Amino acid sequence: MGLSLRYEKAGKRVVQNTLRVLILGDIVGQPGIRAVYANMQKLKKLKKADLVIVNGENAFDGRGITPEQCDMIFSSGVNVITSGNHIWQQASIHQYLNDSPYLLRPENYPVGVPGKGFCIVEVNGEKAGVVNLEGRVFMSSIRCPFLIGKEICQRLRRETNIIIVDFHAEWPEEKEALGLYLDGKISALIGTHTHVQTADERILPGGTGYITDIGMTGPTGSVIGMKKEIVLRKNLTQMPLKMEVEESPAEIMGVVMEIDSKTGKTLSIERVKQTSSL
Ligand SMILES: [Fe+2]
Repeated sequence: MGLSLRYEKAGKRVVQNTLRVLILGDIVGQPGIRAVYANMQKLKKLKKADLVIVNGENAFDGRGITPEQCDMIFSSGVNVITSGNHIWQQASIHQYLNDSPYLLRPENYPVGVPGKGFCIVEVNGEKAGVVNLEGRVFMSSIRCPFLIGKEICQRLRRETNIIIVDFHAEWPEEKEALGLYLDGKISALIGTHTHVQTADERILPGGTGYITDIGMTGPTGSVIGMKKEIVLRKNLTQMPLKMEVEESPAEIMGVVMEIDSKTGKTLSIERVKQTSSL
């Protein structure tokens, strides 16, 4: 938790308790895992982050994540791992989803599938809610992220005003719409899934931080993390070629936000984009 000194209109000094949250985009393959593991402590210090959330759904060769990779990510200093449509692809993760309180899958999947889509994490004596939802435009027709999101956030608000939503979705319209729908009810709505960082970070009128997509933590010189030669061949031939993760050092992308601990409103949101040395 940090202390932030601000000046009100009349020149009065106001000291606020704040929580600084670092969120990184989708980890792609070994380059992404290496980048998180090698840089997390340095990055946390640099960004003065109290809470770290990463989306890990493309960690295993671009398709899902394994228990061993989750353990490695958590041990680097990450508090919560979110995910998305690829989370189901490694069978070994299903039990881990049930067992770990801090590995999330989108909450709006059908009732009864492994895992859960929200948690409350405590850092520096402050409680924060983290929610994972998935979009439906150009994706699976799962339950409504708007209604489920609102219900879960209302439930979490009984315990904390600090709520961060990872909305794993394809379509900007759906992402902006959910951001506005939940504005004032959550601290931030952060888009993931496209692997392309957008430059539209802002604070919505009700105090909710917003960005359409934070990008990826994955190999540079790739096409959304994949080998460019295969992606080009696939596009030129329209053959169902299997994608492979590019083998180059990763770019680390995300945002860092400062949130007022009392009101849960976002005070600042800033993009993160840097190349890993590994
Ligand atoms: Fe995805």
